[in-house]
Amino acid sequence: MLNLLIENINHDGEGIARNKGKVVFIPFTIVGEQVNVEIVEDKKYYSRGILKEIVTKSSHRIEAKCPYYYNCGGCSYQHMAYEMQTSLKQKIVQNTFKRIGGIDFEVKELIGMQKPWNYRNKVTWHLVEEQKSIKMGFYRMRSNILIDIQQCTLLKPVLNEVSHIIREMIHELKIGEKSSIMIRHSNDLNKVMIEFINCIPGKNLLKKLSGKAHSIYLQQRGSLKLLFGEKGLTQRTGHSMFILGPHDFFQINPEQNEKLIHLVRQYLDLSGTEKVLDAYCGVGTFSINIARDAFRVLGIDSNLQAINNAINNTLLNNIKNCQFIAGSCEHVLVNLKTRFNRIIVDPPRAGLKEAFIRSILSVCPKIIVYISCNPSTLARDIKQFILNDYKLIDIQPLDMFPQTSNIENIVLLQKI
Ligand SMILES: C[S@@+](CC[C@H](N)C(=O)[O-])C[C@H]1O[C@@H](n2cnc3c(N)ncnc32)[C@H](O)[C@@H]1O
Repeated sequence: MLNLLIENINHDGEGIARNKGKVVFIPFTIVGEQVNVEIVEDKKYYSRGILKEIVTKSSHRIEAKCPYYYNCGGCSYQHMAYEMQTSLKQKIVQNTFKRIGGIDFEVKELIGMQKPWNYRNKVTWHLVEEQKSIKMGFYRMRSNILIDIQQCTLLKPVLNEVSHIIREMIHELKIGEKSSIMIRHSNDLNKVMIEFINCIPGKNLLKKLSGKAHSIYLQQRGSLKLLFGEKGLTQRTGHSMFILGPHDFFQINPEQNEKLIHLVRQYLDLSGTEKVLDAYCGVGTFSINIARDAFRVLGIDSNLQAINNAINNTLLNNIKNCQFIAGSCEHVLVNLKTRFNRIIVDPPRAGLKEAFIRSILSVCPKIIVYISCNPSTLARDIKQFILNDYKLIDIQPLDMFPQTSNIENIVLLQKI
């Protein structure tokens, strides 16, 4: 057993300590705590430990709300008071910009939630059969051990209710390899979309779920079949309405998504004359919400289904100045002859490819708004823009995922 001091927190929310110079990662700890640790993994440059005893406890430590917290891999900050979580996330962003981008910049205070629980409007449960009974839950962090979970404190109550129905009738499910169930809530209909993936629901279960569901899908061997209800689920966001399919990306925290959209509009500073590019547009969340303030908006996304829904969403919202192209941003933009005054980018965690950054620079927009869920790739990419005559105006973290270590950021850049 080692006695170590927690000096820092890494981007996965694990405490960082040093043992004879070597870094040790210890989950569920807080900076300043003196802890007794058992080493469970010892690599050349780092070790991993499990917390055995807290010798000196942080004043920010609280009782975790969820009974599964120390077992389930979903959350990593429930042992910290919320104010601590938010200031920690801000510091992590600040340090990441310095470390990766060499950017010394005052990061704004993180935009948190009043009630940082029951916010998620989507869940994917994993299923395995063990000793003739079916477990339904989440995988423990860095393992293939499935933790059976009855309730999740991050989910909207209706998602827990629907999950409870499925659990009660779990014997009605025929499961296969890599079975899972996705459930998504609509704030417009107060109903859910359910997708059974590689598992088949029996007739009684389907009947029971039909009272709460707007659509029920079955996905098997790559093909998708509608078993019950209507194809799309409508979601209200900003001033607009969106139709979503089961595989469309949509932010999982509707309350914080409203704040995000508001900020994007504010940063774009539109007067009605601008041409805007919305790169990685999904079902058009930003495009449609800013269309009335702009002259023209073009959205690009590689997911064809999302683009089809984005087009339907323009019709639904009576928007006439938005166009959408299905394809990869990297290939589409380089072949476009259009100039854009504003560009929004909201890429997946990997961030922007160098060639795409070059295409953006050649378009020369006055304002770039970069939305990211990965501070490391964000800092790397922002550095490139700064080196190419863009001024960093704001780094605004927003808590899209309270109780977890994930951090969303919105960055504003202006052409010098
Ligand atoms: C973080 S989501 C953003 C969606 C949207 N902006 C929103 O807020 O709902 C990232 C999106 O990028 C798309 N995507 C991933 N790689 C892409 C690429 N190379 N080119 C275009 N779109 C891509 C995904 O389909 C997904 O819709």
